[in-house]
Amino acid sequence: MAHPLEQLRDEALREIESATDEQALETTRVKYLGRTGSISAWGEQMKTLPKEEKPVVGKLLNEVRNALTAAIETHTAQFRLQKESGVLAKIDISLPGTPHEIGSLHPLHQMHERGIQIFRRMGFALAEGPDLETEWYCFDALNTPPDHPARNEQDTFYLPDGRLLRTHTSTVQIRAMESAPPPLRVIAPGAAYRRDELDATHSPQFHQIEGLYVDEDVSIADLKGELEFFMRELFGSETEVQFRPHYFPFTEPSLEVYVRSKALKGGEQWIEVAGCGMVHPAVFEAVNKARGDKAYDPEKWSGYAFGLGMDRLAMILFEIPDIRLFAQNDLRFLKQFS
Ligand code: PHE
Repeated sequence: MAHPLEQLRDEALREIESATDEQALETTRVKYLGRTGSISAWGEQMKTLPKEEKPVVGKLLNEVRNALTAAIETHTAQFRLQKESGVLAKIDISLPGTPHEIGSLHPLHQMHERGIQIFRRMGFALAEGPDLETEWYCFDALNTPPDHPARNEQDTFYLPDGRLLRTHTSTVQIRAMESAPPPLRVIAPGAAYRRDELDATHSPQFHQIEGLYVDEDVSIADLKGELEFFMRELFGSETEVQFRPHYFPFTEPSLEVYVRSKALKGGEQWIEVAGCGMVHPAVFEAVNKARGDKAYDPEKWSGYAFGLGMDRLAMILFEIPDIRLFAQNDLRFLKQFS
């Protein structure tokens, strides 16, 4: 005769076999193996058995428990597998995937990164200032007289409170010198704004990299040599650089920078790409006034400054015919630079 435990086991196994889902299996598990289940009750009964029966029944109890646990696990796994393949069967793996578009840097941004990299190697640190400025930083401190045409409302965007959108990044020259004594060697990339009519070569918002180097004995030869180096790094070693006399209130002497290179499209033509010059002593004096010291003594320190037209440089480098393309966000244009 089978032991009652074996009968219980066979009964339980039949129930497990005939269970139709995970829920039913769980009910069966609780009924036999749960804390108050009938198999568990046998564990309690063990205490009352005669000493010599204990090991035999104990062993059987273990075997029954293991057998039921294993059967439940196997069936549970089977149910889960069925459920999963049911879900998977509904997925049409022949459908095309959803491609993820990977973006790329805007050509102007790429141009800035290239420029900044070159200047970093030349020892320039990054400086910055706000786009929204005061007349002090944009004009007064830069030795620009009150009646200078650049201050005109036809040329400059003014806010009702008298502030303005900076017309050049030269504002950062002043900010950099106000916050640190010489020697100083900084570049400042950023946007500038003028009330220009929008056409193929003019935009009311454009971009510059400003440069400023102040030290003892900085000469115009440093300025020319370093800008030449920069242009050749950017456009290739064949690039020719020409400096033409010009006028800016904040530099003396002042120059405009032109480049020409056989490697570039339209190679025979000189293209204007920057303004530059030696920092005017009046600019140093204005900075001293704001600082309240004599840190930028024009007798002791000299410096050069430049402002590169980044939109222009990018148009040359990437052969872009129209400045408006930079702001139109046409993917057909932007994707050409990815
Ligand atoms: N700020 C001038 C411009 O925007 C460029 C410049 C910068 C000239 C520094 C001289 C020195 O035209």
